[in-house]
Amino acid sequence: MINHKTDNSSLASKVKFRTDRLPSDPIRVLDCYHGSGACWRNIKRLTGRTDITVDGLDIEDKGSFTLLGDNQKTLPNITLSKYNVIDVDSYGVPYDILKDIFSYQGEINAIIYFTMCLTFMRKVPNELLEDIGFTKKMCSEAPVFVSKNGVDKFFEWLSLNEVKEAEYISLPGNGVHIYGAFKIHRTRKDHTPLFSK
Ligand SMILES: C[S@@+](CC[C@H](N)C(=O)[O-])C[C@H]1O[C@@H](n2cnc3c(N)ncnc32)[C@H](O)[C@@H]1O
Repeated sequence: MINHKTDNSSLASKVKFRTDRLPSDPIRVLDCYHGSGACWRNIKRLTGRTDITVDGLDIEDKGSFTLLGDNQKTLPNITLSKYNVIDVDSYGVPYDILKDIFSYQGEINAIIYFTMCLTFMRKVPNELLEDIGFTKKMCSEAPVFVSKNGVDKFFEWLSLNEVKEAEYISLPGNGVHIYGAFKIHRTRKDHTPLFSK
């Protein structure tokens, strides 16, 4: 089997989904899976907006200026309240990174854009299934059954994390490929990051 992974297989839809929902205020983006930066470069170009600033994170150097490294290690050192957009354009299900964002102890007031893909190889993680009530035993003994309707389970998990409303589009093709967005508003202020400005 060929497991073909492209960073921007549907760049136009990804860009349009975001441009249709951009905040009207000046935008500061934390782009957690920055890649080559094509997505936000095109958003800037197509909207003509000059008030969009992007800080990118990526585990690989893809020729764009980014903070290099695993975003899960980088994220705890970032002050999320500086951003009104957080982009989670991941491969697979963005469970770990969203979990970190949801458990952040500081203030966040942002729109989160996400990508979620489910394929033969990429299932909803067991940890997510356990968060919504499946036992470890069920996950190991009936994996096909428990990971059915992965999109619904993902949205159930979002609602457990206080996400009241989310929008998404589903792309045609192999498996499930979703571009989504939701707003997050948290007011806790007891987070003391290593680096804050
Ligand atoms: C779908 S691509 C993102 C494309 C990007 N939005 C763009 O405009 O080019 C996913 C990216 O996530 C990066 N990535 C995967 N796991 C990561 C991790 N744990 N931390 C940071 N980046 C990661 C990959 O190197 C890849 O560039």
